Amino acid sequence: MSLLWFLLTAPVLLTASSPVYNPNNGTVPLVIWHGMGDSCCNPISMGAIKKMVEEEIPNIYVHSLMIGKNVVQDTENGFFLDVNEQVSMVCSRLAQDPKLKAGYNAMGFSQGAQFLRAVAQRCDTPPMKILISVGGQHQGVYGLPRCPGESSPVCDFIRKMLNSGAYSDIVQKHLVQAQYWHDPLNDNLYRNYSLFLADINQERGINETYKKNLQRLEKFVMVKFLQDSVVDPVESEWFGFLKTGQAKETETLQESALYKEDRLGLAVMDKAGKLVFLATEGNHLQFTRQWFNENLLPFLH
Ligand SMILES: *[C@@H]1O[C@H](CO)[C@@H](O)[C@H](O)[C@H]1NC(C)=O
Ligand SMILES: *[C@@H]1O[C@H](CO)[C@@H](O)[C@H](O)[C@H]1NC(C)=O
Ligand SMILES: *[C@@H]1O[C@H](CO)[C@@H](O)[C@H](O)[C@H]1NC(C)=O
Repeated sequence: MSLLWFLLTAPVLLTASSPVYNPNNGTVPLVIWHGMGDSCCNPISMGAIKKMVEEEIPNIYVHSLMIGKNVVQDTENGFFLDVNEQVSMVCSRLAQDPKLKAGYNAMGFSQGAQFLRAVAQRCDTPPMKILISVGGQHQGVYGLPRCPGESSPVCDFIRKMLNSGAYSDIVQKHLVQAQYWHDPLNDNLYRNYSLFLADINQERGINETYKKNLQRLEKFVMVKFLQDSVVDPVESEWFGFLKTGQAKETETLQESALYKEDRLGLAVMDKAGKLVFLATEGNHLQFTRQWFNENLLPFLH
C-alpha cells in the first residue's frame, strides 16, 4: 500500500522539483488584457482578478498587460493607440517573457478579448493554449451605448468621431473603438477601410497564417453577458452580428458566411469541440467569484 503510494507520487514529486520539465510549478501562466477605460492594475478590476487567480491556483504566474509605461498611459492607450500597434507591442512583450516560453493561457476582458485573439492569429510564439473571451466583441460593435465614464468628455468625443466617419483614415488610425466599429449598413466601407477588425476577421481575403494559428488553440471560450447594456449587439460576444444591409436582425456565428465558408477555421474548431459558448446573468463584465470558479477556473488548470 505504501509502496504503491510511493510509485504513484514519485514522478509527480520529481517533476515538481525539476525546473527543466516544469518551469512554471505545474501551472500554465495566464496573460490578461483589460478592457476600455481600464488598466492592467486597477485594484478593483484587473488587479482583483489577478489576485483571485493567484489565490485559486498557487504558484501561477499571471501577467496583466500594461500598454504603455504607466497606468495613465495604459488607460489612454485603450482609447487612442492604434490596435495593430498594440497587438505587435504585446507580441514582442510576450515573446520576451521567459516565463511564457512553454506557452500560456490568455483571458481578455471586453475589447481586450478581440485584441488577444489577434495575438493568437498573428503571433505563434510563445504558443497560446486557451483563449477566454470575457464579454469580447469578435464581430465588433455598432453603437457605443454606455461608454465607461458616461459623463466624461472622452466618451462624447469618441461618439462624435465615430459619427463623423469611423472609416476615415484619421479616425481609424487614432481611435481604438473605430477599429472594431462594424457598420452593417456600409459593409463595403467596413471591409475596405477597417484597419483592425476586418483584417483579423478575414474580410478582405484569407490569410492562411491567421487560420492556422487560431486552430492551434486547445479551446476558445466565449462568455456572453445576458443583460449586457454596454455591447451592441450583444451577439458579438459569441461571434454573431447584425445581418449585413440592415441594423435589426442578428445572425449567429454558425449562420455567418465567416463560418459557412470557414474563412477563419472556426467551423473546424467548432466540430472539434474547441469552441465553448458560455452565458451568464448580469451586465457587462459582472460576475461572481463563484461563477468564475465554477465556469472559467477549470480552463486555467
Ligand atoms: C514557482 O514558485 C516559486 C515559489 O512560489 C516562485 O518563486 C517561482 O517564481 C515560480 N516559478 C515560476 C516560473 O513562476
Ligand atoms: C498574414 O499574417 C501574417 C501574420 O500576421 C503576416 O506576417 C502576413 O504578412 C500576412 N499576410 C498577408 C498576405 O497579409
Ligand atoms: C471596396 O473595394 C472593392 C475591391 O477593391 C471595390 O470594388 C469597391 O468599390 C470598394 N468600395 C468602397 C466603398 O470603397
